[in-house]
Amino acid sequence: MASGQLSREEALACEGCRHACHVMLFCNTNSKLFGKIPIRHIPLMQMRFDGLLGFSGGFVNLSKESLEEGLRRELSEELGVDITISEEHHVDACFSPTSSLSSSSRLILHFYVKKMEEEEIRKVEQMASSTAADHGQEVLGMVRVPLYTLKDGSGLATFLSHSFVGNARSQLINSLQRFNLVPPQELHKALSRAMEINS
Ligand code: GTP
Ligand code: MN
Ligand code: MN
Ligand code: MN
Ligand code: MN
Ligand code: MN
Repeated sequence: MASGQLSREEALACEGCRHACHVMLFCNTNSKLFGKIPIRHIPLMQMRFDGLLGFSGGFVNLSKESLEEGLRRELSEELGVDITISEEHHVDACFSPTSSLSSSSRLILHFYVKKMEEEEIRKVEQMASSTAADHGQEVLGMVRVPLYTLKDGSGLATFLSHSFVGNARSQLINSLQRFNLVPPQELHKALSRAMEINS
């Protein structure tokens, strides 16, 4: 486990910590961009009210709900869909890099990944932009992460050059690696290019 990372159990042992849970929902796909470039996987993120990209989810109140129940509630608010989340989807947790150091208000960020069917992902996109309570409020829209690289170098690199909330960008990159959604070499190139774009 990387330094600064906490297991689910270690995180839950922190007395007085606040907790937030976010999830990367994704599916495999055979569809192709412009009929020729394999899209391979569709990971979902969202454009937040503050203009930053992030994952769906939010603050969990452990006196009323478990981490996974809280995440499920946040997903129903933000996506308008009931999605069961279980402990097996928990990937890691860490202290928020931006929250205060006083232990009473330290924020622990939990991250989950759940693989779904392509039809379910499409349903999430539909409901999120129609019946979700938070549509147009906390959530301005769902976005698919482009995992391919086009001839001019755009695609994943350009996406990674945008602004992300908290450590959502690292969560994305780590998941692409861990779940083998982008070949390591391609990911490495996209990261270098994203740095060039931002410099
Ligand atoms: P409210 O209902 O308005 O309180 O929002 P929320 O419960 O949906 O909370 P939000 O999703 O904004 O997440 C809570 C905090 O976690 C944020 O203030 C950010 O600091 C952080 N955060 C938000 N999204 C992400 C994310 O995708 N990844 C990480 N690591 N942190 C995030
Ligand atoms: Mn929310
Ligand atoms: Mn949220
Ligand atoms: Mn909330
Ligand atoms: Mn809310
Ligand atoms: Mn793959």
